[in-house]
Amino acid sequence: TATVDRAVDALRRGDPILVHDAADREGEVDVVYPAGAVTPDAVARMRNDAGGLVCVALADAVAVAFDLPYVQDVIDHPAAADHDLGYDERSSFSFTVNHRDTYTGITDEDRALTITELAAAAAAPEETDFAGEFRAPGHVHVLRAAPDLLADRKGHTELAVALADAADLPPAMVVCEMLDDEGGAALSPAAARAYADREGLVYVEGSAVVERLG
Ligand code: 5RP
Ligand code: ZN
Ligand code: CA
Repeated sequence: TATVDRAVDALRRGDPILVHDAADREGEVDVVYPAGAVTPDAVARMRNDAGGLVCVALADAVAVAFDLPYVQDVIDHPAAADHDLGYDERSSFSFTVNHRDTYTGITDEDRALTITELAAAAAAPEETDFAGEFRAPGHVHVLRAAPDLLADRKGHTELAVALADAADLPPAMVVCEMLDDEGGAALSPAAARAYADREGLVYVEGSAVVERLG
């Protein structure tokens, strides 16, 4: 649909967009940025206006090139034996990283550096010494998209990477959930739409992305 095209254009310009997955899934709206466009101000917007976890979704092929596993597969602990999600078959979490040029890793500057360096790494995986550039654990969550993207899974991880592909951007996308400061819940789609209108951002439904790019 036209909204998906506007979302792709916004990402190409380096602007954030808002993506709602589905009412019968998480029912969450994530702020989504191309990782290469993230500045310290963008990290501040995510922690102040969104409030969720700041994550970088990488394409499966990039995760394979960097040997980044699903964390559930490598933690030898009973808590990881059965992930037991209510809304999907499995989580997309890999582990957390910091770029080696960060200090604590949590500041807006440090997280922006880790995120932009992940974008540069994803743009040229074969030229990247991942362990030479990043340390783990860190303060940016890496997510690993399903190999066939929306055909396999319809999470924000896959929605964001599919949008990156459509925009000809490196497959490294930041996602961060919008939370409600009052209700103790995820921000409702209606409230997220109002935020998008106020801020001049494109709001797009996951179902529209699946229809157009799936
Ligand atoms: C990480 C999450 C988010 O919901 C993020 O959107 C990735 O998950 P998914 O692909 O399952 O939607 O939980 O903070
Ligand atoms: Zn999500
Ligand atoms: Ca979530």
